[in-house]
Amino acid sequence: MHLGLEKKVVLVTGGTKGIGRAIVASFLSEGAIVHFCSRTKADIEASTKGLSEAYPQTKAFGVVVDVSKLSDLNAWVHKCAEQSGGIDVVVPNVSCFAMKNTVEDWQACFHTDMLALWSMIQTALPYLEKTKGNVVTISSVTGRDIDFTAPSPYGAMKAAVVHYTAQLAHTMAPKGVRANTCSPGNIYIEDGVWGGIERDSSELFKKQMALNPMGRMGKAEEIADAVVFLASQRASFVSGTNMVVDGSLCTGVQL
Ligand SMILES: NC(=O)c1ccc[n+]([C@@H]2O[C@H](COP(=O)([O-])OP(=O)(O)OC[C@H]3O[C@@H](n4cnc5c(N)ncnc54)[C@H](OP(=O)(O)O)[C@@H]3O)[C@@H](O)[C@H]2O)c1
Repeated sequence: MHLGLEKKVVLVTGGTKGIGRAIVASFLSEGAIVHFCSRTKADIEASTKGLSEAYPQTKAFGVVVDVSKLSDLNAWVHKCAEQSGGIDVVVPNVSCFAMKNTVEDWQACFHTDMLALWSMIQTALPYLEKTKGNVVTISSVTGRDIDFTAPSPYGAMKAAVVHYTAQLAHTMAPKGVRANTCSPGNIYIEDGVWGGIERDSSELFKKQMALNPMGRMGKAEEIADAVVFLASQRASFVSGTNMVVDGSLCTGVQL
């Protein structure tokens, strides 16, 4: 299947680790030009070097940006558009994984998971209108099912991401801009959330692993491939959907 992503300009937040890192690599493997950010300079430098070696025919531009600093985030979006002559795809991928039921975590989660996502998309929309581009937001099965994190802001904000993305799809459809969500299940990354839970809370890890009917957690690349498909020309009539990629972890039927 030809995805038609060559030379498309893609922005990914949180692109140096986990799912974001796999999304960046997957877009590059399709010939896209990818701008990505994270907060850690050393990771940005190592990722940019590694990606340029792995995908010499394409361009990967990494920059230090903390998405919770909205003015920095928005300035980065404008700069990417200026540098690469527009924007075709936006993937706001960062979460602050705020899982405590406290005012501080509710505020942090709203700010990073929802407001920064909204702000980035608002800034990118004029560019996306010009290119008839699209947005792929990253939610979670925790936005759909009540799990071990409840009660906490994480699932509530992830549900808000799905709702907002569907609103965006509906309101922007007449202008040719698509918007979809990808909701990962449990994705095992050694230096990520589940690697940490395996090390620090082995009982919880075993319990959660047992809920996965495929007998395993997902891989970051399995999420990246779904995101890349949603962003591609081959998904030209797919807008407003929430693609759950969870190896059938969720037991509720999504109607
Ligand atoms: N892993 C899972 O099982 C799972 C399941 C469902 C949904 N998700 C969703 O998938 C997305 C990615 O999760 P992940 O597990 O891949 O995370 P991860 O492994 O912790 O990676 C997070 C990435 O985001 C960057 N980052 C974090 N905070 C940032 C900030 N404020 N500004 C800029 N960059 C920031 C990190 O780099 P720095 O720390 O250097 O900034 C890193 O590159 C999240 O939205 C998460 O909710 C994950």
